[in-house]
Amino acid sequence: MAGSSSAYDVIIIGAGAAGLMCAATAGYRGRRVLVLDHANKPGKKILMSGGGRCNFTNLNSTPANFLSDNPHYCISALKRYTPQDFLELVDRHGVEYEEKAAGQLFCRNSAKDVLNVLLTECEWAGAEIRLKTQIQKVREVNDGYQVVTGSGVLSCESLVVACGGLSIPTMGATGFGYELARKFGLNVLPTRAGLVPFTLQPELKQQLAPLSGVSCPVDVHCHNQHFREPMLMTHRGLSGPAMLQVSSYWRPGDEVHINLLPGQPIQEDLLALRKQKPQSTLAQYLNQHLPKRFAQAFNELQGWQGPLQGCSNQDIEQIADTLGNWTVKPAGTEGYRTAEVTLGGVDTRQLSSKTMAVLDRPNLFFIGEVVDVTGHLGGHNFQWAWASGVAAGNEA
Ligand code: FDA
Repeated sequence: MAGSSSAYDVIIIGAGAAGLMCAATAGYRGRRVLVLDHANKPGKKILMSGGGRCNFTNLNSTPANFLSDNPHYCISALKRYTPQDFLELVDRHGVEYEEKAAGQLFCRNSAKDVLNVLLTECEWAGAEIRLKTQIQKVREVNDGYQVVTGSGVLSCESLVVACGGLSIPTMGATGFGYELARKFGLNVLPTRAGLVPFTLQPELKQQLAPLSGVSCPVDVHCHNQHFREPMLMTHRGLSGPAMLQVSSYWRPGDEVHINLLPGQPIQEDLLALRKQKPQSTLAQYLNQHLPKRFAQAFNELQGWQGPLQGCSNQDIEQIADTLGNWTVKPAGTEGYRTAEVTLGGVDTRQLSSKTMAVLDRPNLFFIGEVVDVTGHLGGHNFQWAWASGVAAGNEA
């Protein structure tokens, strides 16, 4: 469809991780590509990701790290574009990186390095990026799609929707991708905030608020999903990797179960301590295993007093259960305002797992976070953005 200046082979809506990856891939195939974004900068979420150092992939990523109503959908694309493939790309650009937790790769210097890789690739592939562009309407026409923008009507053979989810509206997130999906008759599964801190009921919030900033390793579970990672107390509630991970499985009204001393044989420890040092207190035991401020606050919260010699075997069993299975019923989550991702979205049952195209509209594609595929914390979400972007870029 090359020819007039407003006619493109491929228009991609969204200059984020998935859209830019798709643009470079399609551009290298010789397609005339335009990426549109309403924001004033491309890849804003890449820049803020990983605390400014972008956890750009995870070497141990497998389909088990993703939530979806249709869990097999993501397998094909993830297999065809692996963490190793993205690593080779950043290596070719000389980006310095480091492995933080197992498999999690972060830029050593700045998330800008990853964005620059994508922008350079787009430039080399001849893909054009147009920012600050408001999209008013998308129309299906005989030989493709028309995109009506504030600055004119553009047309394309293939349209790729890569406008992400609802998280962090201040960074330009909108529900536009879902609107487009509905407009073209697709089912959109209910969305909710994922990888998001929990808020607490007023009483517990007040008790824990002075501990804001304290972190400790825990094992948390909800709906049989266990995560052994640090928990962080904040002035609003509970956060840190453990809570973010489990939040994606949590539903309003659910309890989360927290083992505060993972790997520690708490009951045996306490029985042995009572025998060897009957005068020692629970506060002393907790001080050895938890950050001091947290140990003290937790002790007060539970009202544990006196030496261990005053505790019966049953008391000790109960204390061990409280420490190993501290049950908290969050009031809610902080919502899209601080969530890293949006769960739910475009139902993948209507998309090709090979190309990301709508099954009965082969020139309309949905990629990245807008679809119902959401990764765990730790670089999996970007890996999905890269893999789905490449899959669509090879076809669009
Ligand atoms: P993305 O949101 O990146 O891009 C969508 C683009 O579409 C945006 O540029 C937006 O402006 C544009 N757009 C939206 N509506 C539009 C409209 N109506 N018109 C035109 N343009 C429109 N993941 C990970 O793997 N490792 C990490 O370290 C982190 N860290 C992290 C930190 C924080 C604070 C957040 C919020 C998120 C993360 N993530 C992450 C998640 C990761 O950022 C996310 O999964 C990807 O950016 C999704 O890529 P997409 O391209 O699908 O959407």
